[in-house]
Amino acid sequence: MMDRTDRFYRLFARRLTRRTLLYSEMITAAAIVHGDRDHLLGKDEGDNPVVLQLGGDDPTLLAEATRIAADYGYDEVNLNCGCPSERVQSGSFGVVLMGRPDHVARCVEAMRLASPLPVGVKHRIGFDELDRYEDMLDFVDRVAAAGCDRLTVHARKAWTQGLSPRENREIPPLRHDDVWRLKHERPELLIEINGGIRDLDATSAHLAHVDGVMIGRAAWDDPWILADADRRLYGEAENPAATRIEAARAMLPHIERRLTAGDRLHHLLRPMLNLFLGQPGGRRFRRILSEGHHQPGADAGLLERAIADVEAIGANHLSPGASFG
Ligand SMILES: Cc1cc2nc3c(=O)[nH]c(=O)nc-3n(C[C@H](O)[C@H](O)[C@H](O)COP(=O)(O)O)c2cc1C
Repeated sequence: MMDRTDRFYRLFARRLTRRTLLYSEMITAAAIVHGDRDHLLGKDEGDNPVVLQLGGDDPTLLAEATRIAADYGYDEVNLNCGCPSERVQSGSFGVVLMGRPDHVARCVEAMRLASPLPVGVKHRIGFDELDRYEDMLDFVDRVAAAGCDRLTVHARKAWTQGLSPRENREIPPLRHDDVWRLKHERPELLIEINGGIRDLDATSAHLAHVDGVMIGRAAWDDPWILADADRRLYGEAENPAATRIEAARAMLPHIERRLTAGDRLHHLLRPMLNLFLGQPGGRRFRRILSEGHHQPGADAGLLERAIADVEAIGANHLSPGASFG
């Protein structure tokens, strides 16, 4: 997710889950080929497994960006065929690519040849008038024939006119059944479902019908939902953090390390702001971090203070006789 799942979010997400596949923000192939690669692609070692999502429609640039992604240690690349923003449409990529399945197939082929990395495509059910299940099936068949290894389907269509990107994530109704049907009719393909899935209960329910589940907004709004994924979905004996406090503490050495490397405290703390969502002291935790990060000299000690604060409030809450009112 743009402006969300950057390297800092992923650094924090790895304190909650080691096994889930994380996705980068969409980065255009042109920016990677012509721009500041270290800035755009730099990542932590412990990030993996991680997918780099590419935006673009030029097979040569996409192939070059794929090769570069492999050098930077990404595990997979993904082509965005789902974004309806005007900026993306003016470059004629994103969701409008669903109207050019043979061209997407050429992009996928070029990306496949560029490196050993698997290549995925993230798309929608359709867009504008091209929104029947059969249209999506035709798109998927052509892209799969070009060697696409994973199809991630945001289970709603997009309107390219009249709806903002945000409205395009809320207004067109979810059609999860179409994605289940796709897996049923193409069992040999790796099909991942996305859209409106907000916790691991819902994830487990979908996994009875498809191969994978992608969680977007919920993983930002309430990151703790990821915390039981390794045990519950991957059969690990333990999760990386047993409590939110433990997850927050686990960030401290990383924050120190990344501040030394020149990153900004705000970027490092932002993904953690909702860690204690709905918990006693959760709002104070958020406020301490978001108000304190720009104070002169603010460093990892700010997080230590916020943790101590939430811990004290939590302990108070649980002490005998404490009021829950
Ligand atoms: C702030 C924001 C940025 C997003 N950026 C991207 C992106 O870069 N690439 C992409 O494929 N989808 C992007 N999306 C869409 C999500 O990946 C996802 O498809 C959509 O939010 C529906 O899933 P959800 O209900 O689990 O959030 C973005 C969504 C949000 C809210």
